[in-house]
Amino acid sequence: MAFKSPSHKKSRSTSNLSYYNYKHVEFNKYGKWSRELGSGVGGTVRLINRKSDNKPFAVKQFRKRFPYESEKSWLKTITAEFCIGSVLHHENIIETIDIIQENGQLYEIMEFAPYDLFEIVMSKKMSQNEIFCCFKQIVMGVNYLHSMGIAHRDLKLDNCVLNEFGIVKLIDFGCSTVFKYPFDNKIMLSSGPCGSDPYICPESYTHSSYDVRSADIWAIGIIFVCMVIGRFPWLIARVSEDTSYKAYLRYPDRLIKKLPPESRSIMRKILEVTPEKRATLKDILEDEWFKNVEYCTVAHKSTNHTHHLIDKNSN
Ligand SMILES: Nc1ncnc2c1ncn2[C@@H]1O[C@H](COP(=O)(O)OP(=O)(O)OP(=O)(O)O)[C@@H](O)[C@H]1O
Ligand SMILES: [Mg+2]
Ligand SMILES: [Zn+2]
Repeated sequence: MAFKSPSHKKSRSTSNLSYYNYKHVEFNKYGKWSRELGSGVGGTVRLINRKSDNKPFAVKQFRKRFPYESEKSWLKTITAEFCIGSVLHHENIIETIDIIQENGQLYEIMEFAPYDLFEIVMSKKMSQNEIFCCFKQIVMGVNYLHSMGIAHRDLKLDNCVLNEFGIVKLIDFGCSTVFKYPFDNKIMLSSGPCGSDPYICPESYTHSSYDVRSADIWAIGIIFVCMVIGRFPWLIARVSEDTSYKAYLRYPDRLIKKLPPESRSIMRKILEVTPEKRATLKDILEDEWFKNVEYCTVAHKSTNHTHHLIDKNSN
């Protein structure tokens, strides 16, 4: 089963700027382009070293406008990603620093976190406590996001990066949405699937509208399963398309039993197919096992594990 999945955002395209072009782009303030860190539907991310002190930053060159898209709607989408990123300040969320327009292109400057959770999981080196730590950090990041009225909507291994201290950072707010405005108690629902197929919750296919908070919780559950079993449990949560998912509906415990015993009770609720019955962040935070998971923070590094920091660009 292929582990790296294509994203399922509205449409896919990557920048078609030639190497020749970006080699010559130079930000006075930041420095010169270095290697590419990754790319996807939202654009291409490259490393840049600040001129003054050589400090590395990640720079996302936003995708170009699709032919069917108006200039206004393109700009709105891109600036929404930047605006959401720039209001978030939490140790488990990447810091968005600046946005720059140059030669008709838009660039977002971010804190650089050199390690990719996808690569770390693929190495199959993660210990159980290391997995628990990463999981708890992701939950803390999502809890902060939701407390700000924002849902990520594209939570996946590829959108989790780590710094050299084993601190997990959520990246990529290209699919994110505001589900609640400050001083307003109303929760706004969303419609249609968003994100990458294996992480997308079942109700986004079956319900005309759904709560994006529960969609994020489902994706967190898939991330945990991937870290533990080293593969996706299914490729898409649609009975008509995926026999593994169909089997899960009939015999959920076959999957749940593959997970560490102490995590099973909450994971059963996180991967609950009926969104109304699914665990909330409050349920997760109050779960006995979860509460006791030792995890790394900026202030305190856990001693029961070390993080396998695998640099995808090292070989
Ligand atoms: N701040 C960062 N530090 C280190 N690596 C990063 C950073 N931001 C992005 N990356 C790398 O670049 C990749 C693409 O970035 P991002 O997810 O923001 O783009 P995208 O086009 O929206 O991707 P996709 O459509 O695949 O979700 C990430 O998966 C990650 O490997
Ligand atoms: Mg991404
Ligand atoms: Zn840790």
